[in-house]
Amino acid sequence: MSQKKAHLLSILQGQPVIPVLLIERVDDAVPITQALLRGGIKAVEITLRTLAALDCIKAIANKMPEVTVGAGTVLDNTQFEAAEKAGAQFIVSPGLNSQLIEKAASSDIPLLPGAITPSEIMTAREKGYDILKFFPAEQAGGTVYLQALVSPFAGVMFCPTGGISLPTAAQWLTLPNVICVGGSWLAPKKLVERQDWDAITALATQASQLHGH
Ligand code: 3PG
Repeated sequence: MSQKKAHLLSILQGQPVIPVLLIERVDDAVPITQALLRGGIKAVEITLRTLAALDCIKAIANKMPEVTVGAGTVLDNTQFEAAEKAGAQFIVSPGLNSQLIEKAASSDIPLLPGAITPSEIMTAREKGYDILKFFPAEQAGGTVYLQALVSPFAGVMFCPTGGISLPTAAQWLTLPNVICVGGSWLAPKKLVERQDWDAITALATQASQLHGH
């Protein structure tokens, strides 16, 4: 196994849930991540869907070395490069394309690309990726769909995200092809706006007590 793949595996196996964080204000990045860490969450994904995202990655990478910070919703090589420069330690994409394949090959940090259909999974495998994001998980077919991929795609592992929350996470985590799940439910906008860090710690504590493989 390559060093990059082993690193990705250790990040994903380190906790049953990876929080997907959409942070609007850079000043919230460290308090949110501290609140999650108090609840036992040691890796977070900051999606590039907000203008503050790269600065949030920078702030977490600089001020919280005990946390592994990744960048999510990375769609092309420019975003990959910007996220890596900001200090991202892993890259997550909803899909896979040639720009990402090329960029990831020349980078030291691992890529978790997304795939849903059998052909997408086969293409990802062909390119050397057998740890994949499964997005949008609930909308694409839910646990019954992913369960149906266990037998034909032995050895391929997934991190499902999209529409998952605490009550459904446990069910996803019982699938033999799921390493961990991801979701934005750990840091809801309302709690962030109220700066209710204790409530975020409580959500993180519940999530980190779920059982993965
Ligand atoms: C992602 O980027 O992985 C998803 O947006 C997370 O989905 P959720 O917001 O439904 O948890």
